[in-house]
Amino acid sequence: MDWFIRDFDHPAYFTIYADKAEDASQEGPALAALLDLPPGSRVLDLPCGWGRLHPHLRTRGLEIVGGDLSVLNLSKHQADHPAPLVRLDLRALPFRPGCADGVFCAFTSWGYFATEEENLRQLLEFARVLRPGGVLLLDLAGRAFLQAAVAEVEGYWLDFLEEGYQERARWSPDGRRIRTERTCQGEAFCHDIWIPTNAVIHTFLREAGFAVSQAYGGLDGRPWEDGAERWIYRAIKT
Ligand SMILES: C[S@@+](CC[C@H](N)C(=O)[O-])C[C@H]1O[C@@H](n2cnc3c(N)ncnc32)[C@H](O)[C@@H]1O
Repeated sequence: MDWFIRDFDHPAYFTIYADKAEDASQEGPALAALLDLPPGSRVLDLPCGWGRLHPHLRTRGLEIVGGDLSVLNLSKHQADHPAPLVRLDLRALPFRPGCADGVFCAFTSWGYFATEEENLRQLLEFARVLRPGGVLLLDLAGRAFLQAAVAEVEGYWLDFLEEGYQERARWSPDGRRIRTERTCQGEAFCHDIWIPTNAVIHTFLREAGFAVSQAYGGLDGRPWEDGAERWIYRAIKT
């Protein structure tokens, strides 16, 4: 089974990522501002997770439809933030071509698939469902920042006692992916995420039919830089 099917669709996910609920009050308004679409725009939140950013998109007057693979996340979203929601796979979106003004892809939600073809397929699907001139906001982890952060602890198990889990991060032997093993609630999980370079991200966006209009190096909209913790791309469907 692909790792992302189980890792996100398990109650332990909400324990491991509890701090992301708090981060939402900062990330939501900032990312919604970087998306920069007028009120009334139709935006697909893909993947939407449990909807932690949803209220901040709604506050800007956007019409949001969320989509995610995880039934558990979608149920929590519907309970906490009722909205039109669809269970879907990012590689085959159940939406009409050109139906959306924006696609909002937050918190390193690209690079989950095993092959580059599938990861490109996700961007091609984003482009397909956007109208010409529509906007994709792609919020990723900066590769150099991750390299520096992981170098300090690579291969060591770290205890997050208060949070209730342990984790160990390692790069794949070819240096393309980060594998983060975790134990929580007596079970083992392993995220396995492709972390491309900035040049490759630009190439993939171009191949999918996007032109990058802005690249940011932080939530405050500072210019992109190699060592930034977040690489946030605002790309226009050509
Ligand atoms: C890191 S979370 C981000 C969720 C949300 N964007 C946020 O910022 O809270 C990644 C999400 O991707 C979803 N996901 C993983 N693989 C997927 C797939 N193949 N198709 C659709 N959703 C997927 C997971 O279920 C999870 O909710």
